[in-house]
Amino acid sequence: MKVAELTKTLAYGAAPEAAKPALDWIAEHEGKFQLFINNEWKNPSGKEWFDSINPATGKKLGSVAQATPADVNAAVKAARKAFAGWSKTPGHIRARYLYAIARQIQKHSRLFAVLETMDNGKPIRETRDIDIPLVARHFYHHAGWAQLMDRELPDHQSLGVVGQIIPWNFPLLMLSWKIAPAIAMGNTVVLKPAEFTSLTALLFAEICASVGLPPGVVNIITGDGRTGAALVEHSDVDKIAFTGSTDVGRIIRKATAGTQKKLSLELGGKSPFIVFDDADLDSAVEGVVDAIWFNQGQVCCAGSRLLVQEGVADKMIKKLRARMEKLRVGDPLDKAVDIGAIVAPVQLKQIAALVKQGADEGATMWQPSWAAECSKREGCFYPPTLFTNVAPASTIAQVEIFGPVLAAMTFRTPEEAVKLANNTRYGLAASIWSEDINLALDLATQVKAGTVWINSTNQFDAASGFGGYRESGFGREGGREGLFEYVKRIPSTHKLEPSPGHGGRQDGGEKRTSANAKTLGAARLPAQKASEKRTSAGLSLSGMPPIDRTAKMFIGGKQARPDGGLSLTITSPDKKIIGEVGAGNRKDIRNAVEAARAAANGWAKSTAHNRAQILYYLAENLAARGDEFAQRIRQQTGATLANANAEVEAAIEQLFTAAAWADKYDGRIHGVPQRNVTLAMPEPMGVLAIVMPDEHPLLALAALAAPALAMGNALVIVPSPQHPLSATDLYQVLETSDVPHGTVNIVTGQRDELAKTLSEHDDVDAIWYAGSTDGQAAVQKASAANMKRTWVMAANGPLPDVDEVLREATQVKNIWVPYGA
Ligand code: NAI
Ligand code: MG
Repeated sequence: MKVAELTKTLAYGAAPEAAKPALDWIAEHEGKFQLFINNEWKNPSGKEWFDSINPATGKKLGSVAQATPADVNAAVKAARKAFAGWSKTPGHIRARYLYAIARQIQKHSRLFAVLETMDNGKPIRETRDIDIPLVARHFYHHAGWAQLMDRELPDHQSLGVVGQIIPWNFPLLMLSWKIAPAIAMGNTVVLKPAEFTSLTALLFAEICASVGLPPGVVNIITGDGRTGAALVEHSDVDKIAFTGSTDVGRIIRKATAGTQKKLSLELGGKSPFIVFDDADLDSAVEGVVDAIWFNQGQVCCAGSRLLVQEGVADKMIKKLRARMEKLRVGDPLDKAVDIGAIVAPVQLKQIAALVKQGADEGATMWQPSWAAECSKREGCFYPPTLFTNVAPASTIAQVEIFGPVLAAMTFRTPEEAVKLANNTRYGLAASIWSEDINLALDLATQVKAGTVWINSTNQFDAASGFGGYRESGFGREGGREGLFEYVKRIPSTHKLEPSPGHGGRQDGGEKRTSANAKTLGAARLPAQKASEKRTSAGLSLSGMPPIDRTAKMFIGGKQARPDGGLSLTITSPDKKIIGEVGAGNRKDIRNAVEAARAAANGWAKSTAHNRAQILYYLAENLAARGDEFAQRIRQQTGATLANANAEVEAAIEQLFTAAAWADKYDGRIHGVPQRNVTLAMPEPMGVLAIVMPDEHPLLALAALAAPALAMGNALVIVPSPQHPLSATDLYQVLETSDVPHGTVNIVTGQRDELAKTLSEHDDVDAIWYAGSTDGQAAVQKASAANMKRTWVMAANGPLPDVDEVLREATQVKNIWVPYGA
């Protein structure tokens, strides 16, 4: 063959990376890998072993131990014992260990990369250039957080023993995302790798021992889902961090419900890849390659739905097919291979089944001309696959395929793009391609996703948080926001005494008494209606107060009668009847959620300045009727006048605090190494349900609801069933304070019954619940349906600090905006 002909065909020669380092390491262990507990290697107590396979060849690499519940218990015990010392080890010392681990990973990076490729099937180009460098980066970055913890998180402490369960798609990378922040923050760890890919975690265990990490700080237990379940169910674990399928995430959510275990879940996705007609199409095509053919498409945030603007759709698809024709599937150890092996036969089968279903449902399937070669290879290979004419509701547009399969759809307008993008239950990531930065950023704020990449895709870094919205889970990994998954706040209780020099009231330091309650209240609110005056006047502490009305619900800015037409009688501590409230039911809750949903977008989009103004106005109007509210507190709780006054003043102060934060709780720009500004923006959760505690009924409302409002959430509030009148008295205050209709909805009634409906409701994005431990468990269990974020507390515990409330009221979205020509 002449050179000229050769350059025409330009076939690649094989460029294999040597398997020897990995094979030698396996041989050193005689192909048998035990459990790493307390820096020692232990046989599994059940004497059960399973094979780890190279999916590119189908050949066995070694035997791995199946940890039993007894082994899990031994690992948790070791971690518990180590926690006492490790959590008290100075941050600087912990930083040195993390730094040493990072150095060791870099020094052994070739071995790690080859071993990962052989165990998982992913191309060596990826393990060498992406997985392993990012692993080292995570340990370096978090060495820094260990160093800075005392200074940057002064009111926080370590959690304790953390159980971590990871998937097989990025075995060592997911390990680093889990272990680095956990041990940096002074926790000890029991980690279970996925059963398909345990080997690099065991090599990592050797590194932990070699750098002298104290025994028990990191324990690695191998095994399948049974081992994972035993870890989740262990009573001495303080937190579970999980990455994997949404199905298992749901099981874990239910299993940990009501246990006080902290939980973070990083689950599946069906991320949109949105291409506008002004995008640089050639770059976008390369983007698609990275979005859906990176790691054979086995990526939780894979851009698996291509949304193209109609005008350029044909052109884009044509370019894409040409590019797919040139992708190379083959031996993952070959440095010139783009697509390696699927992790296991079971996954290959699932991909094939979903592709068949896509074709059966009428979409057009296309694969490169060489696709048939894949099935001829030994091992698990699948060709890159493109579907067009995909109906938005069809299976392949909705279900996570977790393979190299792209479903393409078209849109006409940006509004339609947003609708399509958000038309799944997931919310992990999105990629937006346009040369118009205004358009791209406008879309970035509207897409429901934890990460948005503009004119780029699948960018990751330890300095940026990663995690989902909606059914993609909750919690963040990486960045400052990720640290809070591994610490808890040292509680500080709210003191009800007015602060010194505060005097308890603003005008002249005069003490509030029942005598001036009426006159002052009326004087300050000249427009007050006669009926309200009567209520106010009726709040006598002695004798039976007149029951002149039943407080209604407050839904969509209007007072609404309870759907069931039932009322609950409210009594004082000395059993006197002080009023009645409506007994809300399922229908009332549904109406309230509907009203909140209708208001949510507008409120979220209103300016922070505007929200602050409304909160100040609320404070002003509450102050104007302070005496009335103080009397109401006394009547419901039996508080002394001084304490009731102090509660009113504290509530007013909380409203000021929330108003103050509205335009100050802002985001950050993360220092990632890429040429990017990575904007970490707190966004409201959306529709937030708050089931109120009993103690300090007015203060609790202000402490919980006001920061949630400040952050732009629309609320459905269930007041304390014991002391609901502080909430129902607020209707007039809300009405006179410019709070937009539907932003605050209040449904009174039986706490756990209403909480159940709220936690099951698919259109509630998050729920905060104060109540019994049984009630907490029920809320967390029911929340698994749409994976809503939950926050539970005691009905009579101390109120949380405002920084915690603000964090729970928001979720961080990271938007990656590239710069440079
Ligand atoms: P999986 O969710 O079963 O596995 C993830 C991890 O959870 C593994 O370590 C596994 O041993 C463990 N696990 C399984 N059952 C458990 C249980 N009951 N309690 C505690 N731990 C348990 O995922 P699988 O079966 O490997 O893959 C199935 C599908 O899940 C994939 O096709 C893909 O759609 C999705 N997936 C998503 C991932 C992501 O990163 N979002 C990662 C892996 C899988
Ligand atoms: Mg394997």
